[in-house]
Amino acid sequence: MSLRLPGNELSGRGVGVRVAEDQYASDTISLQRIEQDVYESIESKPLIIAPGGFFDANWFNEFTSKTTKSEDVTRCIYNLGPGADEHHVEKILDPSYLDSEADTFKRLQSTLKSSVTSATAWLGEAGGAYNGCRNLVTNGFVFSFCALLWHRLMGRNVLLTSFSGIHQVVEIYLDDTSLSLAATSIRDPMPLHSTGAVWNAIKDYILQLQKRELGERLLHRTMGSLSKTAHEMSIDGDEPPPQYIVKESTFGPIDSSPPLIPIPIIDISLLSSTSSPSSIEELEKLRSALSSWGCFQAIGHGIPDSYLDKVREVAKQFFALPVDEKRKYSRADRDGEGHGGDLIVSEKQVLDWSDRLALKILPEDERRLNLWPESPAEFREILHDYSMKINSVLDLLFKAIAMSLNLEADCFLKQFGERAHLIARFNFYPPCPRPDQVLGLKPHSDKSGMTVLLQDKEVEGLHVLKDDQWFRVPIIPHALVVNVGDQMQIMTNGIIKSPIHRAVTNSEKLRISVAVSNEAEPEREIGPAEALIDEKRPRLYRNVKNYAAINFECFQKGEIAITTVKI
Ligand code: OGA
Ligand code: NI
Repeated sequence: MSLRLPGNELSGRGVGVRVAEDQYASDTISLQRIEQDVYESIESKPLIIAPGGFFDANWFNEFTSKTTKSEDVTRCIYNLGPGADEHHVEKILDPSYLDSEADTFKRLQSTLKSSVTSATAWLGEAGGAYNGCRNLVTNGFVFSFCALLWHRLMGRNVLLTSFSGIHQVVEIYLDDTSLSLAATSIRDPMPLHSTGAVWNAIKDYILQLQKRELGERLLHRTMGSLSKTAHEMSIDGDEPPPQYIVKESTFGPIDSSPPLIPIPIIDISLLSSTSSPSSIEELEKLRSALSSWGCFQAIGHGIPDSYLDKVREVAKQFFALPVDEKRKYSRADRDGEGHGGDLIVSEKQVLDWSDRLALKILPEDERRLNLWPESPAEFREILHDYSMKINSVLDLLFKAIAMSLNLEADCFLKQFGERAHLIARFNFYPPCPRPDQVLGLKPHSDKSGMTVLLQDKEVEGLHVLKDDQWFRVPIIPHALVVNVGDQMQIMTNGIIKSPIHRAVTNSEKLRISVAVSNEAEPEREIGPAEALIDEKRPRLYRNVKNYAAINFECFQKGEIAITTVKI
């Protein structure tokens, strides 16, 4: 991890404002001291990276002679010019704009080489247009701390997000190739006089985070043998360690073979028009399935059987990769995205006997491609393509559900928003020597709007709870299992149900499933549709934003998210 000081343009003369070498050097040293202090007991400290925009060899010679040797220097390529330039497209299409940068970078490298410092040159933001820091560079320090703080909160590889706190909005991203942190686009520059106070506040906050991180490390230590994934334990023939054993459950003992669920099979190709008697009948079937079971098997989705097999196949090939290969896509401790086992949040947690790979598919500009498997070769393409197909299925279903409830067709889609999230989760359940004691996936309701699950073609394992009883969901190879998520239960004022479900394991065969689900734009408020609230059916849920965060917080506290948003 590295910490980059913004203020790229301030080293040269390009923006009219300039920070003298002396001041920048002393600020760098201050930052190093603070870092020492904050990271006192932590061995690996972030690298400090100084900016190198508007390259000026003299400035750098002077700067490096006045700092210690431990910082590096970035070169941010802003040669597309200012963000407000109307000619960006032409510039992007003309390769000479970007080519012309190579020389400057080489000059920076050679300046550093011939100086006393051991700093090396890094490539910062590349190909971009500048809009960045408008205030004095000292503010850059504060924003760097924001970046650091954000990193601590979110785990590594934050690509683009916004941090709002302490009166500021700063866009921060963690560049996934160099893993350097940057704070850019300070929308509302901070008045200088408040910098000290903010700085201290941030420092306190970082100290708190540091304590939490140490707490987490202890947690991981006490959770003991968790260095192995369920898959590795399964291969080694290990008995499940105590953290995986389901002791007493509010949902009763694990019965791997409860009765089959008679959930309806719905031909969704009939749902898109309302005129024919068969579609009216199908809509009614849909409404009744979702209000009683919260799930159904969808046929008529238009995705060929052979394509579904292909999706299953690439998923299988990914999980069969060597451990080291899969490690490239590992999720960070506090991060839901990437490959790994259960997120560990508490010592009391019972862990799932499964490995998963979770990836955000939409919005497309929030994809973290570094976590998208490159092997098998078609993985990425199929993931993209399959998810888009499921997204269309979801669109159709949201419209159909709205129509079945006599609402405007796009009333739910509007609530999810234009930048709704689409998430794909590949679940891998390795064989388990004690399926009677361990669950593949603990009982939960999905936090999504809706989830579409592609089941394993041969191995059963999904159970749904209804009226306090578990039911097995049968395999229909060409069907997709659709279930309501909490967000749709909220939006329909509880008319349709987000069912509790779980996955069991077995001692012989591995099982793979692929879940694709959508979630409302995190910053958007969702709530029960007005037309579904009346005297007979008063509002059941309050309006909420960022349900995924609520859900995670509840998960940490052992609470059930949907009950906490009930009125
Ligand atoms: C899920 C889920 C069930 C299964 O991923 O949320 O419930 O059978 N999966 O894998
Ligand atoms: Ni689920």
